[in-house]
Amino acid sequence: MALDIITTIDETRRRLDEARSDGLRVGFVPTMGFLHDGHASLMRAAAGDNDVVMASIFVNPLQFAEEEDLDDYPRDLEADAVLAEESGVDILCVPDVEEMYPGGPVLTTVSVEEISSRWEGATRPTHFAGVATVVTKLFNIAGPSRAYFGEKDFQQLAVIRRMVADLSIPVEVIGCPIVREQDGLAMSSRNSYLDPEQRAAAPVLRRALGAGLAAIDHGATDPVAVVRVMTGFIKEEPLVELDYAAAVDAATLETPDQLTGEIRLMIAAQVGRPRLIDNVGATITPTS
Ligand code: PAF
Repeated sequence: MALDIITTIDETRRRLDEARSDGLRVGFVPTMGFLHDGHASLMRAAAGDNDVVMASIFVNPLQFAEEEDLDDYPRDLEADAVLAEESGVDILCVPDVEEMYPGGPVLTTVSVEEISSRWEGATRPTHFAGVATVVTKLFNIAGPSRAYFGEKDFQQLAVIRRMVADLSIPVEVIGCPIVREQDGLAMSSRNSYLDPEQRAAAPVLRRALGAGLAAIDHGATDPVAVVRVMTGFIKEEPLVELDYAAAVDAATLETPDQLTGEIRLMIAAQVGRPRLIDNVGATITPTS
């Protein structure tokens, strides 16, 4: 099927209603555009699991604070359409702000308490309510059987999972592994803001996470000790200013007394203009 680019909610709904009434299952990949291989991997996963794939490109004002990069968030619809088509997308929904939020600010928002307030939420207090609100709206437009999110935004994935569970939204949320550049830097549209020196420094985030994992492999289960190892790595790199390093329970994102079961190591740092985030997972089996 050739890619259809649709700009209205009504037409998107009409196309997907038609698909569903033919018994087809819809996979959905929400994005803010400036697509890279990380997005392509979500689209390919959706194409493999579903009969019809819808992706959206919408730079959602609700999830940007005033001082953030909404106005100059990178955009390239032409290249995005090529990547989406090559990755198996059938319908690319590209609504503008007036289409999504006619009449100005929305009065109805969705917020997922607690899990939204720590880590990213501590520096970006309105961010996850903006994400949860637009994702709810996009789910209502797309009516997907499955929706695909990258693990790079691990807290976002946790927020969406919790929202879907709390509100009984009938969609299966699928988290897909982080796609990395050859030197380990997690792919992100905001990497385009890095100058060459900052770009060379940025993979220290992945190396710090690797050092945290190595500490765990050597038996560390104290989150404070694991965080100390990661922090030490970041401090070696003057162009990278650490915001937080954390060793948390993968479901609640809380720091436990001892690391056990499914855990996540997470890092956020300012590298010049962009704030970069990265994370890795591990399973720690308790020793008896
Ligand atoms: O991860 C993103 O690109 C955005 O937060 C999302 C999920 C498309 C909502 O605007």
